[in-house]
Amino acid sequence: MSDHQPTPEDNFTFGLWTVGWQGVNTFGDAVRPPLDPVEAVRRLAELGAHGVTFHDDDLIPRGSTTAERDAIVARFTAALEETGLTVPMVTTNLFSHPVFRDGGFTSNSRDVRRYALRKVIRNIDLAASLGARTYVCWGGMDGAESEAGKDDHAALDRLREAFDLLCSYVRDQGYDLRFAIEPKPNEPRGDVLLPTVGHALAFINSLEHSEMVGVNPEVGHEQMAGLNFVHGVAQALWADKLFHIDLNGQRGVKYDQDLRFGAGDLKEAFFLVDLLERAGYAGPKHFDFKPPRTEDMSGVWESAAACMRNYLILKDKAAAFRADPAVAVALAEARVPELSESTLSPGESVADLLKEDLDLDEVGRRGYHFERLDQLALEHLLGVR
Ligand code: GCO
Ligand code: MN
Ligand code: MN
Repeated sequence: MSDHQPTPEDNFTFGLWTVGWQGVNTFGDAVRPPLDPVEAVRRLAELGAHGVTFHDDDLIPRGSTTAERDAIVARFTAALEETGLTVPMVTTNLFSHPVFRDGGFTSNSRDVRRYALRKVIRNIDLAASLGARTYVCWGGMDGAESEAGKDDHAALDRLREAFDLLCSYVRDQGYDLRFAIEPKPNEPRGDVLLPTVGHALAFINSLEHSEMVGVNPEVGHEQMAGLNFVHGVAQALWADKLFHIDLNGQRGVKYDQDLRFGAGDLKEAFFLVDLLERAGYAGPKHFDFKPPRTEDMSGVWESAAACMRNYLILKDKAAAFRADPAVAVALAEARVPELSESTLSPGESVADLLKEDLDLDEVGRRGYHFERLDQLALEHLLGVR
């Protein structure tokens, strides 16, 4: 839409823990009051979001009785019905309680691992009853500060055991639910297991039901490791494993900033939207950001609206870039379409390949004109084309 007003068709979703973040961090106390999940549902619907997501504990406070839990879920479900908001994804808090200080699925303590699995299984039942299709697993506490205390081989075995068990559970129940692993290099642990998209993809291949498990990459998490997020997402798409995505902003290699989408590395955000739109990614575009502590509640809703607005603006800019005839020429000059041709023609043999020669002097002089192409992208992004 040219006015960049989001509608539910845009498939934007938010975690309850994002707009509901009270601002507690390592140094500062809460700066905002608790946010009632029902109020979050109403405000997000008003802003044009499609759905809302949550960790079990975001919706149902720890220690709730069964009757309290049922009442909370009934009230929340009524708000969903009233607003039309959906719950496409649910996740588990396996990090806040002190029992998870050494992780959930990979805690050295076997009793904690068993508790973590029970906590996830209970919440999977709720997720399925709300119609969620994706279950995100972020193992932020599954890691270490010292190599001495963690047997990585055993930890990966336990992680595989957990996913194999959860996949069988979902199959046995007949739920239409897939898992998405969210990589992160560090924080809260000094080093986290499955630190990047690449690590997660390789791990998924080892699972019994690997077809049920994909990734949920987060912009800032790859960038915290100095990696190119667009390349990570491209590989996830190539592997058919982009089950979900966490959009936010990050400026460089530092703590997890969770800025609103578009803040931080704007050019990477532009190429990310370009990639997602051209690839036809149809899953939720989930904003996992933390409205800065400087903001009061009005600033929270402004930054939530801005996440969606920035996506839609970038979508327009990327479409204009792709439709620009000068870009088509520059792409051809940069030989971008040539990369889609197979290196050997059908029917060609190694013998054919070995017969051929290359004029190294001539081809060595070849320029690729990527600068021209990149400048065109930048000018579209800057609004001068
Ligand atoms: C982070 C993570 C979390 C997870 C969430 C889902 O910022 O470190 O992104 O927000 O996405 O816990 O399980
Ligand atoms: Mn994050
Ligand atoms: Mn996230």
